[in-house]
Amino acid sequence: MGRRWYLTLVVTMFLATAAYTADDRNPLAGDPKAAKAGEYEFRINCALCHGLGARGGGRGPDLTRAVKKHTHSDAEMFQVISNGIPGTAMPANGTNGQGVGMTDEEIWQIITYIRSQEVKAPAKALGNAGRGKDLFFGDANCSLCHMVEGKGGRLGPELTGVGGSRTREAIIDSVRNPSRRLAWGLTEATKEFPQEYESVTVVTADGKEIKGVTLNEDSFSVQIMDANEKIHLLEKSTLRLFQKSRQSAMPKYDADVLSDKELEDIVAFLVSVGAK
Ligand code: HEC
Ligand code: HEC
Repeated sequence: MGRRWYLTLVVTMFLATAAYTADDRNPLAGDPKAAKAGEYEFRINCALCHGLGARGGGRGPDLTRAVKKHTHSDAEMFQVISNGIPGTAMPANGTNGQGVGMTDEEIWQIITYIRSQEVKAPAKALGNAGRGKDLFFGDANCSLCHMVEGKGGRLGPELTGVGGSRTREAIIDSVRNPSRRLAWGLTEATKEFPQEYESVTVVTADGKEIKGVTLNEDSFSVQIMDANEKIHLLEKSTLRLFQKSRQSAMPKYDADVLSDKELEDIVAFLVSVGAK
């Protein structure tokens, strides 16, 4: 093996590094072909948490917001995607069981894609946050199932941060069409919401019906939280009926139950809490 070969190797490695990581700027910025490739990568590696279209899912924040929490420059975004965010669900590249990890070029493609999806105007609340708060904890019954700043129920996801991590459109869609996002994704791993929000109905041996959400399940037993947050541990073989559904436990709020104006007030409340 000659010295020349060694030198070529070193120079090639140097160039490869220089082309991507050493550069703070995205070498593929604004390239529509790269954005397209990035969209494909995003669907495979990121959409299960960040949602299709990067608009946020049950597990990860909306990435279409122009103002982000951890990442401002492309270089910071590169760091976050490569190394993850310690202490959060955001995984380091190649560690989320979704294949062997992405190359630097693929990461820049994904960044190009995310930038192409960003909505430049920040979410602006149209409603009245004070009235929204009253509705949330009062007449609209949201707090029966959702906790905000430590107050409320636990049947549905905690919503303290939702106004900061989802767009106004996504929140409105969740309220008007609760089952839609629950049903997205073809396999469990690509669903946006974890299994714990699946609705379940069982009838016990003595004829008692229990409806709620599944907390835990294995081949023999299932743990269910009912609407009163009571937890039932049941042996499956003893049940007369065991029915799971991707129908949301959340009621569909039509405009005759909750007007558009009232919903805007609730969104304004969630955005005001989420912005803190
Ligand atoms: C297992 C779930 C999960 C997967 C998979 C995932 N993320 Fe994340 N990601 C998160 C969570 C959760 C956060 C927010 C962490 C926090 O602030 O608490 C996050 C944060 C981020 C941020 C920072 C957002 C900000 O506001 O600064 C970026 C950028 C990001 N993810 C990009 C990606 C990309 C690109 C992929 C795919 C290559 C990906 N994520 C895959 C869960 C995930
Ligand atoms: C009977 C329980 C229940 C009630 C009442 C309820 N929700 Fe939900 N909600 C859920 C569950 C369960 C989910 C999890 C995902 C799904 O099923 O769609 C959810 C999901 C959501 C999400 C999506 C969260 C995310 O991370 O994107 C939002 C936003 C939301 N609810 C807002 C509301 C608002 C606002 C109200 C009141 C107008 C309300 N919910 C009333 C049970 C409820």
